[in-house]
Amino acid sequence: MTASYNFAIIPGDGVGTEISAAAGDVLAAAATRFGFAVDTETYDWGCDRLLQSGEMMPGDALETLGDFDAIFLGCIGDASKVPDDVSLEMLLAIRTGFDQYVNLRPIKLYPGVPTPVATANPDTVDMVVIRENTEGEYARMGGIFKRGTPDAVALQTGVFTYKGCERVIRYAFDLARDRGKLGAGETVGRVTNCTKSNALNYSMVFWDEVYNDVSASYPDVARDAALVDAITMWFIKNPEWFDVVVASNLFGDIITDLGAMLQGGMGFAAGGNVNPERTYPSMFEPIHGSAPKYTGMQRVNPIASIEAVRMMLDHVGEAEAAAGIERAVATTLAAGEHRTADIGGTARTDEVASAVAVLVLNQPDA
Ligand code: IPM
Ligand code: MN
Repeated sequence: MTASYNFAIIPGDGVGTEISAAAGDVLAAAATRFGFAVDTETYDWGCDRLLQSGEMMPGDALETLGDFDAIFLGCIGDASKVPDDVSLEMLLAIRTGFDQYVNLRPIKLYPGVPTPVATANPDTVDMVVIRENTEGEYARMGGIFKRGTPDAVALQTGVFTYKGCERVIRYAFDLARDRGKLGAGETVGRVTNCTKSNALNYSMVFWDEVYNDVSASYPDVARDAALVDAITMWFIKNPEWFDVVVASNLFGDIITDLGAMLQGGMGFAAGGNVNPERTYPSMFEPIHGSAPKYTGMQRVNPIASIEAVRMMLDHVGEAEAAAGIERAVATTLAAGEHRTADIGGTARTDEVASAVAVLVLNQPDA
């Protein structure tokens, strides 16, 4: 029987429509080539909807999304229409509402892609950042007291639960084991604990304690730690050191933009908001913003969105199709014929996507 998947597509704001179409082309090609059926439903949620109806997404959005195998999200936010802290509530509501506690962010540099970082090359850049995605600094707990008076005070409280830290750190160790990178010696893989326990004397000291507890049950995986400020330096100086990095919500957010530069820019960086238990659907997205000034210009790089599709197919169990997309992306980038403006080319978003889609369709078996 042919496998069949049901995906929700939320293009979002700015360039979201064109990158989602580009991603859709590659998804359709993969379905044809690798023999599965895909049904998609597109939702026009975002800033324009808020301007018309008062809400970014309907009140029952999570119920609607709950029926899908996975969600593809384009990009959310357009500060000229809606303040970012309002529009981005939608993204955070899906992440927490569906308990997508793992934010999976692979950082890999494909051959042929220029990067601004001198130490970065396809041999040195191959790591995954596992970002906690439902609590920590993003818990949205706090308030503003005496606002508008000279005594105004703002409190923003981080929330670190044992369960929340434990499960994401465990995921990182399992992933390092699976990846099997850096196999020399007695350990396989390495999990770098991205911390700041020298200054954050409650939250990060606690996080480190949980890391220590979890790592005790993975004697075969190498332990490692770096303070978040130092990690930004080490990412540049020795990217090859890193395998799996586990970080809190905010730290993971910050270091993955740096990671995107190692992989050639924001146009290459994708992420999965994953609920590993599969109680709820997971959501896959390019991690770049919505670039409103380029809307409709077919100018932005579709690779990040195509990578999000690759991760989504991997997640639902179409590993061969995911590998097929990876090969097609690698071939396209190495050939260098179809390149968008961010990497010095003149190709349009849709041209790059169809070049990849054609390769997906026509490739021989692996
Ligand atoms: C990301 C983004 C979001 C985040 C914003 C848009 C709220 O920067 O996914 O990395 O901070 O998580
Ligand atoms: Mn970010």
